[in-house]
Amino acid sequence: MEENQVTGYLLFSLGTAVIGSLQFGYNTGVINAPEQKLRSFFNDTWVERYGVPITPGVCTIVWSISVAIFSVGGMVGSFSVGVMANRFGRRRSMFLVNCLAVIGGLLMGFSTICSSYEMVIAGRLVIGLFCGLFTGLTPMYVGEVSPTPLRGAFGTLHQLGVVVGILIAQIFGLEALLGSAKLWPLLLALTVAPAVLQCILLPFCPESPRFLLINLKQEEQARKVLVRLRGSEDVSKDMQEMKEESAKMAMEKKVTIPELFRSPLYRQPLLIAVMLQLSQQLSGINAVFYYSTGIFESAGVKQPIYATIGAGIVNTVFTVVSLFLVEKAGRRTLHLVGLGGMAISAVLMTVALLLKDIPVMSYMAIVAVMLFVAMFEMGPGPIPWFIVAELFSQGPRPAAMAVAGCCNWTANFLVGMSFPKLVEWCGPWVFLIFATSLILFFIFTYLKVPETRGKTFDEIARSFGGDPLPTSSSVEDPPASASAATTLPASPVKE
Ligand code: GLC
Repeated sequence: MEENQVTGYLLFSLGTAVIGSLQFGYNTGVINAPEQKLRSFFNDTWVERYGVPITPGVCTIVWSISVAIFSVGGMVGSFSVGVMANRFGRRRSMFLVNCLAVIGGLLMGFSTICSSYEMVIAGRLVIGLFCGLFTGLTPMYVGEVSPTPLRGAFGTLHQLGVVVGILIAQIFGLEALLGSAKLWPLLLALTVAPAVLQCILLPFCPESPRFLLINLKQEEQARKVLVRLRGSEDVSKDMQEMKEESAKMAMEKKVTIPELFRSPLYRQPLLIAVMLQLSQQLSGINAVFYYSTGIFESAGVKQPIYATIGAGIVNTVFTVVSLFLVEKAGRRTLHLVGLGGMAISAVLMTVALLLKDIPVMSYMAIVAVMLFVAMFEMGPGPIPWFIVAELFSQGPRPAAMAVAGCCNWTANFLVGMSFPKLVEWCGPWVFLIFATSLILFFIFTYLKVPETRGKTFDEIARSFGGDPLPTSSSVEDPPASASAATTLPASPVKE
């Protein structure tokens, strides 16, 4: 019976992997609170080197680069995930990738001692590379060790890890904790600690049984791992399902990235996957997570850091809400609600910034940001990460995920890099840019995005115009377990 599938060992392995998601969240959120401290550090270094203070324009550029170079690393990292995971395996890749966290953390941590703002920038780049790799590795490992009926529920742990990481960064960023003029380098370097912890724990975790069986053909090893993970000697059902996946992989041609772009069969799902990733980032969410302290300040909020932490709490709560709604309301509906709600919040934000001299408007700014974040986590936050896997079958999926992940990080970069300049140019009107893009993505989603809830990969592929691939179901009728395996992600478990 499937009931007995959640063992302590499985939870331990999942918990260890999700440290990677936590790291992605931590490094996304960590740069927000110490903005002013970093700016004065840039100035001090400048004065020390050139004898004159840094100009505000140059300071903004150095600051934006420090924030946004993280995403450049992310782009490269997310693109390399497939190669690394197949070459070294899932577990060893996670282990190796942690070296990057140590290097990046140390660079940032020693930047003040060495009077070098370049070390902050270099550190952020390396950390970005590290996070880009983990945005692929964690969901892959989690998906591969989870029992099929629980794969969707456990899959959402990734985004939950991300949002909790952001929240931890916001709390540690408090002036009274690590956000002070003296301690901010430690705040940035703290990412080394979870990396070391994960390296200590990983040797006790198993390699993914799917990797052992499908990639390495080590059937006996895979069986042993499964017995431990499931806490039962009878793992024949899992083994059977994995063998079917292996056979299906052998049958389905692997699709390279150029082929993905060339084939008309993938045009529609690829367009949807990319547009959903773009809608996630061009919604402006990271303008909030990178810069909210500054936004609140300009809206006249007295204690901006607490408002930022409030946004982190709302972010976490609504990720959990979405987890329970996604199988009931459906992806399309939640994505539409999220985009629409974010557009309204962006308009509210603009009003609050325009009328900031009226005292009550600082509260309106807080409410608008909270609503913006809550609506993001309803749909545009979690859905793009997992819908790509749903839109593609086994063959083109890795290539599609690399392209989608890279688009996500590229858009993340553009927003992170341009937001401070946009604020300089547009002043209080800046959120109308996001409102406009949100409305356009709303229209696109309404017209083009199909509902994928409860459908198998075959059904989804067929909805894009015919069955493009000789999947096992079109060759022969699969056993029940195989069709269950293709329904991703599963709903939060109902007993
Ligand atoms: C998603 C986005 C990430 C963002 C986070 C906020 O994971 O990919 O860029 O910072 O949500 O919760």
